[in-house]
Amino acid sequence: MKIFLDTADAGAVRSYNEMGLLDGVTTNPSLLYRERGDPRRVMREIVDAVEGDVSLEVVSAAHGDMIEEGRRLREYGPNVVVKCPMTAEGLRACRALSADGVPVNVTLVFSPNQALLAAKAGAKYVSPFVGRLDDAGHDGMGLVARILGLLANYDYATEVLVASVRHPIHVARAAGLGAQAATLPPAVLEKMLRHPLTDSGLESFMSDWERLKAENPGAGP
Ligand code: E4P
Repeated sequence: MKIFLDTADAGAVRSYNEMGLLDGVTTNPSLLYRERGDPRRVMREIVDAVEGDVSLEVVSAAHGDMIEEGRRLREYGPNVVVKCPMTAEGLRACRALSADGVPVNVTLVFSPNQALLAAKAGAKYVSPFVGRLDDAGHDGMGLVARILGLLANYDYATEVLVASVRHPIHVARAAGLGAQAATLPPAVLEKMLRHPLTDSGLESFMSDWERLKAENPGAGP
């Protein structure tokens, strides 16, 4: 499964990319707002920090403006995927950009039918928002399963990018269902790589090593 980092924090992107964990990044206007700085500088840094797909979101409402904006966003780099909202205008833009060879991520998907329409419009990725559905009392991962089942009946090239991930169980379930990608906030990726038994095991290895060194001055690896 592809792992994307869901952030506009270029430092976090560089850090996890150094570990070889990232297949790309997704951003959105709210994540950019959290970083506060000039969004053009932030987007440039993120696009330069990772080789894989970086989703940058359009902020226009009309499809003609989205198409223009999408083309401008692509100037940040060949790895830019244009994120369009799951609206009629967004699908028009998705269709036009995809036909031009510009990859599109259709975002804010909350139903299997929306995912089907995005795939028909040529989206490279559809992004079901699992956490926001869970928050509203629905079954986010159930939606992912239904979208994967539906798309498997046909031969769309569209990949399911599980978004609005809140915790590691979402990630494990996405991988178990065979989702092609998931986008993770840095805090979720951090939780995935940690385990208290790893920490306590390492602590006891280190303290035994210190004792051994004290008994054997000058010893070292
Ligand atoms: C996806 O591309 C979005 O940026 C993101 O996953 C939104 O998640 P949220 O519900 O945590 O805002």
